[in-house]
Amino acid sequence: MSPNSYKVRDSCRKNLVKYTMKAFSLIPPIDNPVILDMGCGTGEPALALLEICNGKIYVVDSDIECVSVLNEKAKTSGHADRIKVINGSVFDRNMFQNQFDIVLAEGLLNILGFETGLPLLINFLKQRGYLIIHDQLQNDAKKRALFTKYNLNLLDAFELDENIWWNEYYCCLERSIDNIEDTLCQKEINEIIEYKKDPENCRSIYYIVARTQPESAL
Ligand SMILES: C[S@@+](CC[C@H](N)C(=O)[O-])C[C@H]1O[C@@H](n2cnc3c(N)ncnc32)[C@H](O)[C@@H]1O
Repeated sequence: MSPNSYKVRDSCRKNLVKYTMKAFSLIPPIDNPVILDMGCGTGEPALALLEICNGKIYVVDSDIECVSVLNEKAKTSGHADRIKVINGSVFDRNMFQNQFDIVLAEGLLNILGFETGLPLLINFLKQRGYLIIHDQLQNDAKKRALFTKYNLNLLDAFELDENIWWNEYYCCLERSIDNIEDTLCQKEINEIIEYKKDPENCRSIYYIVARTQPESAL
């Protein structure tokens, strides 16, 4: 993607960061939490979390371009000592020696598939840790059943409907692209076309879940 594409996307992605904050507020307070943002992209949610919590955030993405954009932003964020940017994949189960208090995954399981991605995320989570997943609103019942299968307790969930996605993201994207007349933003233009074809398909949901002890371990 062109540098302009990242800038445009980030400026609109910021509008949705309040929903990450809302999900975070639904987790019982943890002092100095160690957080993992897996599939962090260019990191707008992670940078916003640094503003409201005193913990440390590890941000991981398999896309080297996203990682280098985020690295630059982290340096100037004023919190460089509390964010560690890593180019890696969720499939690398041995990436960390320790597990995390909170694992955040926004938009990652859309790509990997929920059934494939969920156990990979749990691998990074402390025994009594919390997971925030932001995913497309599809197969909701099946996903909730998977939480039970993996000893995860669903604490809360909330949806972002197609109006939120238009008013707070795609409309912003469309306006920004028009303003800069950047033909290099083709990926974003295609996404807007897809949205307009089927807005409801864009609905998404945040799941806030707690890892519980398996019954056999109690
Ligand atoms: C839809 S984007 C979401 C980015 C960011 N979480 C956000 O909400 O703005 C999904 C991200 O997952 C990353 N990704 C895809 N496969 C991955 C993998 N196996 N391991 C880590 N990151 C991956 C992509 O590079 C992309 O940046």
